[in-house]
Amino acid sequence: PVPALVDGLVGRMTVEEKAGQLTLLPSAWGGGIATQLNPPTQGSNWEEQLDEVRRMQLTGVFNGNGAEMARRMQTVAMTESRLKIPLIFAADIIHGHRTIFPVGVGEAASFDLDLMERTARMASYEAAASGVDWTFAPMVDIARDQRWGRTMEGAGEDVLLGELIAAARVKGFQGKDLKANDAMMACVKHFAAYGAAEAGLDYNTVDMSERTLREVYLPPYKAGFDAGALSGMASFNEISGIPATGNPWLLQQILRKEWGFDGFIVSDYTGDEEMIAHGFAKDAREATKLAFLAGVDMSMTSGFYRKHLPDLVNSGEVPMARLDASVRKVLAVKAALGLFEDPFRRIDAKREKARARTKPATALSREAGRKSIVLLKNEGDLLPLPKSGKKIAIIGPFAAGQHDLVGPWVIYGSDKEAVDLATGVRNAVGNGHQITIVEGSGVEQALPGGIEAAVAAARDADVVLLAIGESQGMSGEAQSRAEIVVPAPQQALAEAVAKVGKPTVVVLKNGRALALQGAVADAQAILVTWFLGTESGNAIADILFGAHGPSGRLPCTFPRSPGQQPFYYAHKPTGRPDPDNKLAEYKAHYRGIPHTALYPFGHGLTYGKIEYSDLSVPATMGWNGDLIVTARVSNRGSRAAEELVQLYIRDRAASVTRPVREMKAFRKVALAPGASETVRFRLTREQLQFYGVENKPTVEPGQFDVWVAPSAEAEGVHTTFELTAA
Ligand code: IFM
Repeated sequence: PVPALVDGLVGRMTVEEKAGQLTLLPSAWGGGIATQLNPPTQGSNWEEQLDEVRRMQLTGVFNGNGAEMARRMQTVAMTESRLKIPLIFAADIIHGHRTIFPVGVGEAASFDLDLMERTARMASYEAAASGVDWTFAPMVDIARDQRWGRTMEGAGEDVLLGELIAAARVKGFQGKDLKANDAMMACVKHFAAYGAAEAGLDYNTVDMSERTLREVYLPPYKAGFDAGALSGMASFNEISGIPATGNPWLLQQILRKEWGFDGFIVSDYTGDEEMIAHGFAKDAREATKLAFLAGVDMSMTSGFYRKHLPDLVNSGEVPMARLDASVRKVLAVKAALGLFEDPFRRIDAKREKARARTKPATALSREAGRKSIVLLKNEGDLLPLPKSGKKIAIIGPFAAGQHDLVGPWVIYGSDKEAVDLATGVRNAVGNGHQITIVEGSGVEQALPGGIEAAVAAARDADVVLLAIGESQGMSGEAQSRAEIVVPAPQQALAEAVAKVGKPTVVVLKNGRALALQGAVADAQAILVTWFLGTESGNAIADILFGAHGPSGRLPCTFPRSPGQQPFYYAHKPTGRPDPDNKLAEYKAHYRGIPHTALYPFGHGLTYGKIEYSDLSVPATMGWNGDLIVTARVSNRGSRAAEELVQLYIRDRAASVTRPVREMKAFRKVALAPGASETVRFRLTREQLQFYGVENKPTVEPGQFDVWVAPSAEAEGVHTTFELTAA
């Protein structure tokens, strides 16, 4: 509900002040962190920016520099501007503020929603104290092409996982009380389908059926808004010919009319301006009109709204009522954040210091880090390693050093404050092992003498930890990769080290799924460690030396070859499937490689030995009933394990073709050595729904497969059931 105060203010504002209320700019303080990250097109001078605050030409700033800056700016707004409307301070707090948690896709691998809510909560606790009211997160774009650099920020390829994580992160950021001084407003981004850019090229065209859009890409945004997010960000991409920033069907029909969203939408950076380059608007004035009338309430960075909206209103091209409606939404959100009651409620330099990098936050980062690690392979039970008595060579560009630890999209945390692999190993084993560290190779360039030094170290070692992969600059915004492999010089390093023949654990650093090949794929053990944040090295050591067992699972498919993109488990069948991967002629396959995953979605090993048995599923599901599915999961190994039990279905025949598998539920079970547990799932008719011929949710009676399995390609235990007609 819009408070009366808001209506009163709207009645007193000039058109220029209203346009200012819809204008967000990068902070210009001290040159501005924001200006260093993204060159601004407006307001790079701090004194000028304060003048703009006095004249009510902006609603707030983003990516500023903490409580001191916020206090000075807010003081000007509250004492020197005409209507004393509080400013809003925004920032990209993506996966932590001063304490950094794993990158989005890494944390998604934990499949632990409670954990993700807690890390988002902690990010708010730290960031809100430095004056941040509003975070540009969560990023909920489904990503099915690993060439896209921003797969790193999201929740992976799956719809259900994406929805659940979107909701968990929104709840974590916003907390129970949005007015609290440890809560930030969430911003669900990037609306919509930004992750479906053709060929994984950032900012590129998206062209898809309305059915796929509704069924696969839209649900996580809806889940984020349903969880209470009061803002959303329009995406850079066009969708089937219309840029999202100028798309009334998306921003009004779907978002507001169908979903009932009543917060506000901000452009992504210069998204309004970029409609000129898209070939959709002829100039700045038209871009402003198209974006605003489509439903973008606030313009970020370009300054287009404050420059062109007054004239568009005066000429009658934009109705005053539309302008007032957007201003009302922005002011209502400021009220919901408690800014009218106390504009300084989140700004407190002392609290900012006291809340930064506390012990509980550090412990949470370590917990999140170890739960995000995925054990792809563990031949001969090489892992966990003993705690003493060995010579360990840590080889590779990520073996040691304060770099590539926190991930590519971090503003306020630092690699300098994070734990690297070598330090984590030393912390875990003390003097128990003899440890040698060799860089061996640069990330993308060979190091003179590197391979020779690495081979010598491997010869002298009992075990090699090969710390290789992508640097943090290789994923994130604008970091699309055509070849999603370990860079050539590191691959050469891996091949040379493999020839020495010592047991080798690949400790992979990555912001996306990679096609692992040659000696990297053949190593005895492979750990996927993403960018884990502040406690990176300690979290990896927790798993390496068995203080904790690995429990992460892949939220994205690891392909065999970079050419298998886009590649995701929930693909449609073809008319010529090749189910046994015989690479048969005139069947759907690539020459030379099976079109299966190297490691599928949902895959991840534990230190136990897990078996699935005793699937029990009734033969029929009544139209108005539900289906209770149970299966037994046992740990036959000698170590405790946390197993992620996944339930998949396939609709055998429908009026619109259905994916070969769809995950409908998952559950983590902790199993002591020798223990078994019966896992129970309840399937409802709603979970069998799809978008039918008319693009409306539909359920059809018929036969369904059901699997309870450890991954999207594993057979696990499997049967069928029939959904009977009404
Ligand atoms: O929030 C981001 C967005 O994800 C990408 N473009 C810039 C915005 C503000 O920094």
